Amino acid sequence: MIFRQLFEPLSSTYTYLLGCPESGQALLIDPVLEMAERDLDAVRALGLTLAWTVETHVHADHVTAAARLRALSGCRIAYPAGEEIEGADAYLGELAPLGLGAVTLRALFTPGHTDTHHCYLAGERLFSGDTLLIDGCGRTDFQGGDAAALYRSVRDKLFALPEDTLVYPAHDYQGRRVSTIGQEKSHNARLGDGKSEEEFAAIMAALALPYPKKIDLAVPANRRCGALPVQPAT
Ligand SMILES: [Fe+2]
Repeated sequence: MIFRQLFEPLSSTYTYLLGCPESGQALLIDPVLEMAERDLDAVRALGLTLAWTVETHVHADHVTAAARLRALSGCRIAYPAGEEIEGADAYLGELAPLGLGAVTLRALFTPGHTDTHHCYLAGERLFSGDTLLIDGCGRTDFQGGDAAALYRSVRDKLFALPEDTLVYPAHDYQGRRVSTIGQEKSHNARLGDGKSEEEFAAIMAALALPYPKKIDLAVPANRRCGALPVQPAT
């Protein structure tokens, strides 16, 4: 599998490029609007054709590049199962893996950060979205978020994966790029080292995070594949 980890600094988002050397097709997980051209250039520089964009969830902190990339390349747009998104081409669920030649992306339903969040597995790589971050996790106070659900998603589904599974999160705010399931099981300050569901719920309830700055723009746009509202002519 051809693989690249791409970074968008404003929202500290990682976008992942996965390519199949046999079919020449590629997909991008969680592309960011402002980086659409950069990401498409990266796909093409590898001699690949962009076939899909894939979202782990409806993001609140940035607008997806899905619609822009489809306009530029003719790719298709996949969202997680359980969503109803204006303009989406497909929904990925646990029973509907996405095939890309020799590469298969398997969805894992992991609610908690949002109520339809999915992580994706490709071989030994887990794309953990905002469900599991390196030494942390996504917030659980918006978009149907639920600390108990996130705890169960991580403990029952993600921590059940082989310990050497590579964890590639949707964000990191300290420049860390990759972890493993074994490392997060033992060191994750919120979810690792045998933390109980009650301890986790108390940690999440005490975070007192500010209102997400971009949520009122990003969520409605991301419910339309990232298409921004057209400004009326003056
Ligand atoms: Fe998120």
